[in-house]
Amino acid sequence: MTIRFGILGCASIARRMFAPAIAQVEEAKLVAIASRDASRAAQFASEFGCAAEDDYAALLIRSDIDAVYLPLPPALHETWARKALAAGKHVLSEKPLTTNLAATARLVEEARQADKILGENWMFLHHRQLQFIKDTLASGRLGEIRLLRASFGFPSLPPDNFRYRAGMGGGALLDAGGYTLCIARELLGDPLTLLASHLQTPPTSEVDRFGSALLVSTDGIAAQLAFGFDSHYRCELEIWTANARLTAPRIFTAPPGFAPLIRIETGQGTEEHTIAEDNHFANALRSFIRRINSHDADFDGLLRQAKLTEALKTHAHHTCHQTGPGPA
Ligand SMILES: NC(=O)c1ccc[n+]([C@@H]2O[C@H](COP(=O)([O-])OP(=O)(O)OC[C@H]3O[C@@H](n4cnc5c(N)ncnc54)[C@H](OP(=O)(O)O)[C@@H]3O)[C@@H](O)[C@H]2O)c1
Repeated sequence: MTIRFGILGCASIARRMFAPAIAQVEEAKLVAIASRDASRAAQFASEFGCAAEDDYAALLIRSDIDAVYLPLPPALHETWARKALAAGKHVLSEKPLTTNLAATARLVEEARQADKILGENWMFLHHRQLQFIKDTLASGRLGEIRLLRASFGFPSLPPDNFRYRAGMGGGALLDAGGYTLCIARELLGDPLTLLASHLQTPPTSEVDRFGSALLVSTDGIAAQLAFGFDSHYRCELEIWTANARLTAPRIFTAPPGFAPLIRIETGQGTEEHTIAEDNHFANALRSFIRRINSHDADFDGLLRQAKLTEALKTHAHHTCHQTGPGPA
């Protein structure tokens, strides 16, 4: 069944990735975009051939929309997801779904009551390079996993970016740290236990700008995670096994048209695998549509992700460090 989408907010990610991906997915149709600004909505609508609404609520009352994509600053996700569910829409939210565990638990309950699908858009889970890594590990040829390391961080953003604002749900943990937690859960399996975590917040900053964590799986495999803003770009997965070291230097953000590299070092030498380009946004959208069409209302992953994120924050050793670049 074709799923008719509406988008709340002319976000950068909606323009660059989500709306172009909809055009590639046969079972999806973009019906309308809503913005707080009528001219922005009209511009977006003319680019992508859909209707424009100058009010988010006006989009939600349209009867020709089945599902809503939410690419808003994280602090706004809970409110708009709730309104969308109440209006009878399925919801695909950008990550993080909410800014805390209680809010995620409330939304999950509301999605259950409304009998709607609620998703969090971890698009990298749907890139073929991750499947290649899973298949390689499952083949057994690298031996047992000893350690997983994941790092995601990037240089300073414009000072008015929501990621620097506490009231918008900003901060390195919520923005970049979630990817590292998500891949550790995906490859080592739930539940992970948090052993230690650290968040660094410069004295003039509203939000954490850097962080790290150590977790362990039920099989006793450790995950070392690091994430941050105002830093040299890193987007890497490293898996150290009994016989090898596997690295994937663009694990979270390999865009359409880009062929990511996976390197496997063993005692016999180094293999370099170039993985064919893939559109993980389109794949993530297909997966969400499959969930709608098959009534797959399993929300366990949403709760586990939110629980770990909250544990990392609650138990973190906080430091107040003066960093160089980045806005105050
Ligand atoms: N999955 C991924 O690969 C990926 C990548 C990047 C970002 N993201 C996520 O996508 C979401 C949006 O990120 P982005 O970088 O695309 O954001 P962005 O360009 O700043 O867009 C956010 C949009 O939210 C709307 N908005 C409503 N109230 C707002 C307020 N008070 N302040 C600012 N914006 C407000 C605005 O739309 P209107 O003004 O048109 O209403 C704005 O365009 C975040 O949750 C982020 O974590 C995901």
